[in-house]
Amino acid sequence: MKKKKILITGGCGFIGSSLAIFLKKKNFIVHSLDNLSRNGSQLNLKRIKKFNIRNFKIDVLSKENLFKLPKYDLLIDCSALVEANVKINNITKVLSTNFFGTNNLLLKCIKDNSRFFFLSTSRVYSIQEVYKFINNKKNIKKKITKKNKFIINEKFPTSTPLSFYGLSKKFSEELIKEYSHSYKVKYLINRFGVIAGPWQFGKVEQGFFSYWIWRHLRKKKLVYKGFGGLGYQIRDILHVEDACEIIYRQIQKFSKIHDQTFNVGGGIKNAIDLNDMTYISRKITKNKIDIGSYKKTDSSDIPMYISDNNKVKKLYNWKPKKSILEVGYDVYDWQKKNLKLLKKYMK
Ligand SMILES: NC(=O)c1ccc[n+]([C@@H]2O[C@H](COP(=O)([O-])OP(=O)(O)OC[C@H]3O[C@@H](n4cnc5c(N)ncnc54)[C@H](O)[C@@H]3O)[C@@H](O)[C@H]2O)c1
Repeated sequence: MKKKKILITGGCGFIGSSLAIFLKKKNFIVHSLDNLSRNGSQLNLKRIKKFNIRNFKIDVLSKENLFKLPKYDLLIDCSALVEANVKINNITKVLSTNFFGTNNLLLKCIKDNSRFFFLSTSRVYSIQEVYKFINNKKNIKKKITKKNKFIINEKFPTSTPLSFYGLSKKFSEELIKEYSHSYKVKYLINRFGVIAGPWQFGKVEQGFFSYWIWRHLRKKKLVYKGFGGLGYQIRDILHVEDACEIIYRQIQKFSKIHDQTFNVGGGIKNAIDLNDMTYISRKITKNKIDIGSYKKTDSSDIPMYISDNNKVKKLYNWKPKKSILEVGYDVYDWQKKNLKLLKKYMK
């Protein structure tokens, strides 16, 4: 059988590089497109090269360069500016890169009759509705114990406000559906919760899990920010290998299951608040650091997110394999092994 050709944009990013290697090992022909703008992407470039994966150093916003690339069976869109709390002077750049990047990739799909896979985010869900769901703002000042009451499925409202990053991803999702309607582009969208694992150059607003462990390892101070500064905000954590495995299963069934949107995350078992994150970081690194407190909540932040994986579970017989502690040890082992190198890339 002819090998399928896949282009991963953002293939030198955290998820894109892990996915490129994962799919290459599954016998696909894999290429990457990445303009190497992200801190640390140079290291991931070296990593994918070891697996003979070629990177095209192209900006996804350049339709002209994109159209010079060969034809692929599938385009996987992992190239985005990932920033939960976008500063005012960066709003235009985040919106335009994320939206017009997706637009160019969809045009390339039409030209070549390719399929499209979009990595979206849980941040497409309404901030106000999340607050209502957990039963008002005061609740977050108490530790939430019954987490299973608060899982979020694909039907949850996506009305604004969402944060500018969330909005940029929501715009892309809507655009994909327009192209699907008008030009029959076959697509899949996964709304991921927090993904963590080795080769993540965690910034606090992007990869808080890796960042928390890194700061413990380096014995540097951390701060519980927002929601009263108590560290009660909750997220679910998915190992990057579990993310790659579900994408692989979805690619295999693409002909049968497409034009669908899924929530994919660590789920209840892998949901953790920042206090527990500190606890496991201490356990793993054997270091104890000071944690400061800053009460004021950023307008783009949400108190809680836990993925309801039921839809994806049913259709693909998938569930996360790695526990939070396993994700933690994997991140720690990688950071410790690459300490010297990482000091250049992580604060
Ligand atoms: N990391 C997570 O927890 C998470 C969760 C949900 C969704 N996602 C989504 O997954 C995707 C990948 O996220 P990540 O964590 O790997 O991010 P990342 O920042 O590590 O990777 C993004 C890559 O895209 C590249 N890039 C940025 N702008 C580009 C441009 N204009 N042209 C070409 N390349 C460009 C960067 O150089 C970088 O290598 C994103 O779409 C993100 O929204 C990530």
